[in-house]
Amino acid sequence: MLSYQHGYHAGNFADVHKHAIYALVLDYLLAKPKPLACMDLYAGRGAYDLRDAMAHKTGEAAQGILKLWSQPWPELLGKWRAVLEQVGGPNLRAYPGSPLLAAKLLREQDRLVFNELHPAEHRVLAESVRYDSRAHLHKRPALEALPALVPPVEKRGVVLLDPAYEVKTEYAEVAEGVSRALRQWSSGTFMVWYPLLPEKRHRVLVDKLLALTGRHLLSELVVGNGGEGMYGSGMIVLNPPFVLADQLRQLAPFFAPLGVDGPATLRVEAGPEC
Ligand SMILES: C[S@@+](CC[C@H](N)C(=O)[O-])C[C@H]1O[C@@H](n2cnc3c(N)ncnc32)[C@H](O)[C@@H]1O
Repeated sequence: MLSYQHGYHAGNFADVHKHAIYALVLDYLLAKPKPLACMDLYAGRGAYDLRDAMAHKTGEAAQGILKLWSQPWPELLGKWRAVLEQVGGPNLRAYPGSPLLAAKLLREQDRLVFNELHPAEHRVLAESVRYDSRAHLHKRPALEALPALVPPVEKRGVVLLDPAYEVKTEYAEVAEGVSRALRQWSSGTFMVWYPLLPEKRHRVLVDKLLALTGRHLLSELVVGNGGEGMYGSGMIVLNPPFVLADQLRQLAPFFAPLGVDGPATLRVEAGPEC
């Protein structure tokens, strides 16, 4: 079942939260000249037109990235801002998803691995990175691809997993997949996104991931009161950069305007070994 299309949601508060953290993690890894591998297992199409019918239908970008666009931008997120402007222009007409964000930030010596199962989304992504020799594309169920991809030859890098969670079992399956992958690559940085929904199905995922290693970070951005629909965005990073928790705490005021009935709140919890 592949009915989810990220075009309806691109640039929403969850993308803001997820991509801000992704940009910080990549920025940290890029401080060393050694090559790194960036593996995006639910890649999506790459870029999203914020003026098309899908974006207009939900108006989610208007309540997300566009709410922050004209406010002062923190220096910590300067590189992400530069990519947003490069792709979307001064008025942010288009929004770069995770593959384009990584492609713009990474260097000549780095490797990009993109996996996307939806045929139409995969086609658009393939076209957008066609001339990028660093990019390697796959069209497989992400949790089947994962064990074949880690550890990467570079021994440095990050795996991003942000499924649409269309089926209830996906929470437990993702946790199990990451658990196995961490055994194969214990020093790898794994980023797992999840939605905060009233049913709180994410708990099984969170409990399992946090128990895997004390080197973890949890961040949850809460924008609503939990009454109905997605009221927040969660991210767990295993083997996070040691600076990430402090950086996110500094950024909390930046996310505040994303709140629906009041300021959004950002929870940041670092594990005992961070
Ligand atoms: C939340 S979207 C990804 C957004 C993207 N990573 C970004 O941040 O810009 C999830 C994507 O996963 C794809 N997908 C769904 N199930 C999948 C699976 N089992 N394996 C790989 N991709 C899948 C969907 O087609 C969709 O494009």
